Amino acid sequence: IPVDPFDLVIFGGTGDLARRKILPGLFRRHCAGQIPDEAAIIGAARTQHSRSEYRSFAAEAIREFANGQPCDEGALAAFLDRLQYVAIDARGTQGWAELAGQVHPDRVRAFYFSVGPALFGDLAERIHLHGMATDDARIVVEKPFGHDLASARALNATLAAHFQEGQIYRIDHYLGKETVQNLMAIRFGNMLFEPLWNSQYVDHIQITVAETVGVGGRGEYYDKAGAMRDMVQNHLMQLLCLIAMEPPAKFDPDAVRDEKLKVIRALDPVEPHHIVRGQYEAQDGAHPSYRDAVGDPRSSTESYIALKTHVSNWRWAGTPIYLRTGKRLVARSSVINVMFKDAPHSIFGQEAGRHANVLSIRLQPNEGITLLVTIKEPGPGGMRLVDVPLDMTFAKALGPEGEDPPDAYERLIMDVIRGNQTLFMRGDEVEAAWAWTDPIIAGWKSRGEVPKPYESGSNGPGDADLLMQRDRRAWRGIKP
Ligand code: BG6
Repeated sequence: IPVDPFDLVIFGGTGDLARRKILPGLFRRHCAGQIPDEAAIIGAARTQHSRSEYRSFAAEAIREFANGQPCDEGALAAFLDRLQYVAIDARGTQGWAELAGQVHPDRVRAFYFSVGPALFGDLAERIHLHGMATDDARIVVEKPFGHDLASARALNATLAAHFQEGQIYRIDHYLGKETVQNLMAIRFGNMLFEPLWNSQYVDHIQITVAETVGVGGRGEYYDKAGAMRDMVQNHLMQLLCLIAMEPPAKFDPDAVRDEKLKVIRALDPVEPHHIVRGQYEAQDGAHPSYRDAVGDPRSSTESYIALKTHVSNWRWAGTPIYLRTGKRLVARSSVINVMFKDAPHSIFGQEAGRHANVLSIRLQPNEGITLLVTIKEPGPGGMRLVDVPLDMTFAKALGPEGEDPPDAYERLIMDVIRGNQTLFMRGDEVEAAWAWTDPIIAGWKSRGEVPKPYESGSNGPGDADLLMQRDRRAWRGIKP
């Protein structure tokens, strides 16, 4: 859908996120014809750069990261032509009048805060002060959104001093992923699943987000965060919400977010023995250990979490939800497995064994869904049952050949411009997620717990398997 001309200001315009995601994403949308000719994209950062220096920076970023988009030089030149640059001091006065002179009074204007949260308040205040916080203004903020409940509340209050909730777009890039949105389509667009989507038919749910990367150059941030704050409080929590929520009355931002909030508020506190923390070790000289990567030989930050939780409501009473995520695991794979109960009675006798249906929703890579169905094993061997996959890989079934689906950031930035908050976290959701996370982290601290070491390239610590085995269950394998 075409959008009206807009202004987009990227604070932190020369930063890593702008380079890897925002500028390449905007370029791809430009190539898709979604960005009107008059739209202006204004990079803003502390250092002085000329407009042409900024364009070269953007051109390089696009060549490196525009992900599958053939870099047509004509299209690139037209895109670069939209770019402006303003050197700005977030805490001072420099650059603000210039910026205010560049944005158009009658347009949607989006301010992307691609900077540390310590600057959010200063930026919000100065946007306001310079008359740019009009009704059509929106701000976009990135995680980490707070470090705990108190800091998230403080951040929300800071932003609320200058902007309405309807103008604040808190990005969780998982919500921009194609298959994450597909969760809602699968659940609420089909008659097939929803009647079975409750504790009467679902034995348990597994949500796995496995990564092969380590902490890389982000050690300083990561060591203060850990997997719980970096992944569980936001990305896994969002997946859990979409899997567990009640059907919203309509696909509208507040209707969807109200239902997600109810899920978070219904989460039981996690018992200490229902959670496993891990930290990766070095891999045969190929990769450093977590502690070496962050440069702290005594770090007790976790790079892996597995936990069991319950959504205490009518629909899910008695159906545990298991979450796990970690770095340097055996494969990159994000998948949700909805494990259905066994048939109550086997008419084929004991021998036929126990069979249960599994709905696997693969978020990445290789997006798609698989339903394991029990059938008769072909051949004359009598009534022997086997489980076979009904498989649909979205790219094969739907994708126009050779074209990658839009990256999460592309989709989310265009939603900001369109003014659609459905895929962004509301302030109360973020706070509720921290309210659930804080006591878990406080518990580790007070008990002086350290994470279990696990081999790089493995499935994570063995204790995560025990967590399942104690419940007579097992994780489904982490497969690429
Ligand atoms: C980020 C985390 O939010 O998500 C990273 O900070 C993590 O630690 C990343 O690697 C995973 O995102 P994706 O899209 O690669 O699954």
